[in-house]
Amino acid sequence: MNNLVRLTKDKDVAIITIDNPPVNALSPGVPEGISAAIDEINGDSDAKAAVVIGAGRTFVAGADIKEFAKMTSGGPRRGLLPLLLRIEDSGKPVVMAIHGTAFGGGLELAMAGHYRVASPAAQVGQPEVKLGIIPGAGGTQRLPRLVGVAKAVEMCAEGKPVFAREAATFGLIDRLIEGDLLAGAVSFAREIAGKPALKTQERTEKLGTAAENAAIFAAARDKARKKQRGLKAPLAAIDAVEAGTGLSFEEGCQAEAKLFTECLFSDQSKALIHVFFGEREVAKIPDIPKETPVLPVNRVAVVGSGTMGGGIAMVFANAGIPVLLKDVDEAALDLGMGKIRKNYASSVQRGRFTQAFVDERLQLITPVLNYDAFSEVDMVVEAVFEGMALKKTVLADLDSACRRGAILATNTSTLNIDEIAGATSRPEAVIGTHFFSPANVMRLLEIVRGKKSSKEVIATCMQLSKKLGKIGVLVGNCRGFVGNRMFGPYRREAQFLIEEGAEVEAVDQALVEFGNAMGPMATGDLAGLDVGWRIRKEYRHLEKPGIRQPFAEDRLCEMGRFGQKTGKGWYRYDENRRANADPEVTALVRKWSADAGIPQRQISTAEIVDRCIYALVNEGARILQEGYALRAVDIDIIYLNGYGFPAYRGGPMWHADTVGVQKVYQRICEFHQQHGELWAPAPLLQRLAETGKTFAEFDKEQVAAA
Ligand code: 3HC
Ligand code: NAI
Repeated sequence: MNNLVRLTKDKDVAIITIDNPPVNALSPGVPEGISAAIDEINGDSDAKAAVVIGAGRTFVAGADIKEFAKMTSGGPRRGLLPLLLRIEDSGKPVVMAIHGTAFGGGLELAMAGHYRVASPAAQVGQPEVKLGIIPGAGGTQRLPRLVGVAKAVEMCAEGKPVFAREAATFGLIDRLIEGDLLAGAVSFAREIAGKPALKTQERTEKLGTAAENAAIFAAARDKARKKQRGLKAPLAAIDAVEAGTGLSFEEGCQAEAKLFTECLFSDQSKALIHVFFGEREVAKIPDIPKETPVLPVNRVAVVGSGTMGGGIAMVFANAGIPVLLKDVDEAALDLGMGKIRKNYASSVQRGRFTQAFVDERLQLITPVLNYDAFSEVDMVVEAVFEGMALKKTVLADLDSACRRGAILATNTSTLNIDEIAGATSRPEAVIGTHFFSPANVMRLLEIVRGKKSSKEVIATCMQLSKKLGKIGVLVGNCRGFVGNRMFGPYRREAQFLIEEGAEVEAVDQALVEFGNAMGPMATGDLAGLDVGWRIRKEYRHLEKPGIRQPFAEDRLCEMGRFGQKTGKGWYRYDENRRANADPEVTALVRKWSADAGIPQRQISTAEIVDRCIYALVNEGARILQEGYALRAVDIDIIYLNGYGFPAYRGGPMWHADTVGVQKVYQRICEFHQQHGELWAPAPLLQRLAETGKTFAEFDKEQVAAA
C-alpha cells in the first residue's frame, strides 16, 4: 500500500500489516495506507475477511503525538474518524489482532473493526488524559457500546491500561489467542467470514438508561476532582461519554471532537505532551551514545538498612534482583528487616502486591553483617548515615571487598561525590544514585556524575533505573545536586513569607492550589525539620555575611519541634498524624519577626506563589547555566517525579515558558529590588528574557550544538 502499511493474503484472508516502528503510531501515511488496503480488499472477490496486525513489538500505540504540536501551531488537522468509518463500513469483516499495546487511537482503530482478538498479555487503553486530551477518534463513543458506560468512563477518565486477559471478560476482546497471534487471527477470520458482522456504532445494548448513568457520571466526576486534582481532561472525557449516551453516534462524535480540540489547545495538554517527550529525552546523554556498553547488574548489595537502605533493597528485590543488605549489628539489621516486612505487609493489605509476590521478594533480600559475600555482587549502593568520614571509610571497605568492575554507588544527598570517590582506588566506578524517600515509592532517581565516573557506569545506571521502575536523570555534582539545590530557595522563600506576616497554612494552601502535592511547610514537617537544620549548621560557614537568612525553622528545631516525628513542627499533629494549625507557632514567629525588625504585612496568594515558584525557576536557570543539569526539561522531570510539582504545569522551567520568560524575569527583578541579593536574576534567565527566548528553545539549541 505504501512503505508503512502492507497488504498480503493467506488464501481467502487479507492481512493488513502496519509497520511504522518503533510503536506503529498512526503517523501520516498509516491511515491512508489502511484505508487504501480496505478499498482493495473490498474489490477483491477472493478475500472473505481481513486481519489488521502490527509489525514488530506492538499493535498501534496511538495517534502520532508529535503531530499534535504541529496542529496546535497552525498545521493541518488530521482526524482518524473517516478511516474508522471506512473500516466499519467495509463489506468484508475486519478482525483486529492485538499484541503489545493498543492505546489511544490504536484502541479506537481496534474498536472500529468488527472483531478483536488479542494475545493475553497485550494491553488496551485510552491513556489520552495523561496527555491532557481525550480520545479524539470516537473512543468515548465506541467504548461504552462495547464495555458499558461505567467501564468506559473509568478507562477514558483515568487512562489506565487493561490487560487483554481482563478486557476479554467485559467484551472488549472477542477471543484471546495463545501462541501465534497472526495464525490465530486468520483462523478466527475464517470462522466469522460470511456471518453478519455488527458495526460497533450500532451496538446500543450496553448504553444503559439515563437514570442508571447519572449516578455513574456523578461518581466519576467526584473521583476525578479528588484523584486527578486540577486536571481538566478527565472531566472533559466524562462529558464526552455522557454526551454520547444521550445523542446519536454521529452527534456524540461531534461533541467528542469539540471537547478534544479544546483540550488539545490547552496549556495543560501542551505541558503534559512536553512531559511525555521529556521523560524519554532525559535518557539521552549527549556524550554517552546509545551503544555504550553496559555492565551486568544481576546481584547487588546495599549498605545501611535504615530508612533509605531498606527502601532501596526493596526496589532491587521488586525488580527480581537478589540483594545483600548489610548493617553494623543484629539490632540495626533486625530493625531494618522489620520495617521492610511491615512495608510489604501493608502493600499486601492495600492490594498492591500478592502475598506470594511479597514472599518471593523477601527471599531475594539477604541480611548480612560483614562484607564476605560482597565479592560476588555487581553493584553496591551505600546508604549509611550522612557524614563524609563515615562515607569514606565505607567506600574504602567496599573498594577492598568488591571485585574490579563492580559499581560503587552512594546515596548521599549532600556530600561531594568526587571526595567520596577519592577514598577508593577506582573513582571511575563511583557514582551517586540519589533515591528519594520513600525509595520504594518515589519514581525519581538522580544519577550523580562524578568527575571520573566512567561512561559505562553512567550508561548502566541510566538503563538500570528503567528496570527498577524509576526515572533516572543525570545530574552534576554540586551541593544538593539539582532537586534539593532548588528546593532550598523554594523553602527559604516560604519561610521568609511567614516571617513577613503570611500564615503557615496560607503558604501551604497557596502552593497546593497551584497544584503541588503538598505545601512547603507540611513537606518539611513530613521529612523532618531537623534534617535541613543539621545540614544548615554544617554549612553555616559558607553563608555570606549580611545576607538575610530565614530563622524561624531553626528556632523551632531548637525547641525540639522536628515535625511529624515529634508531633510538632510548623503544625501540631494529633494521634492520627493529622495536621492542625498551631497558634503557638504563629505567636512565636510574630514575636521573633518583631524582634528582628521585619515589618508585618498582608501577603497575597499570588505573591506567595510567585516568590516560591520563581525561586525554583531562578535557581534552575543557574543550575542549567552551570551545566549541572543537561537540559531544562531534565529539571522539569526531576520536579514532577521527586517533588510533587503538578504535571499539568510541565515542571518549573516549562511553567516559566508558559507564563513568559520575560514576565518571570521582570518579577524576579522586582523581588531583587525589594529583597536584595538572594534574588539576583540568573544570567541565563536574563539572557533568555532579553533575546525573547524560552527554556524549551534553549534546550533545542543545546541538543543541536551537541
Ligand atoms: N506518538 C509518537 N511517538 C511515540 C508514541 C506516539 N503515540 N508512543 C511512543 N512514541 C515514541 C517515544 O517517544 C519513543 O521515542 P524515542 O525512542 O525517540 O525516545 C519511542 O516511541 C519508544 O517509546 P518508549 O520509549 O515509550 O517505549 P516503551 O516500549 O517503553 O513504551 C508505549 C511503549 C507503552 C507504547 C509507550 O511509548 C506509550 O505509552 N506511548 C504513548 C501511548 C499513548 O499515549 N497513546 C495515545 C496517543 S494520543 C491519541 O491516540 C489520540 C487519539 O485519541 C486521537
Ligand atoms: P538512617 O539513619 O535511617 O539509616 C542509616 C543506616 O546506616 C542505619 O541503619 C545505620 O545502622 C547504618 N549504618 C551506619 N554505619 C554503617 C556502616 N558502617 N555499615 C553498615 N551500616 C551502617 O539514614 P537514612 O535516612 O536512610 O539516610 C541514609 C543515606 O541516604 C544518607 O546518606 C542520607 O543523606 C541519604 N538520603 C536520605 C534521604 C531521606 O529522606 N532520609 C533521602 C535521600 C538520601
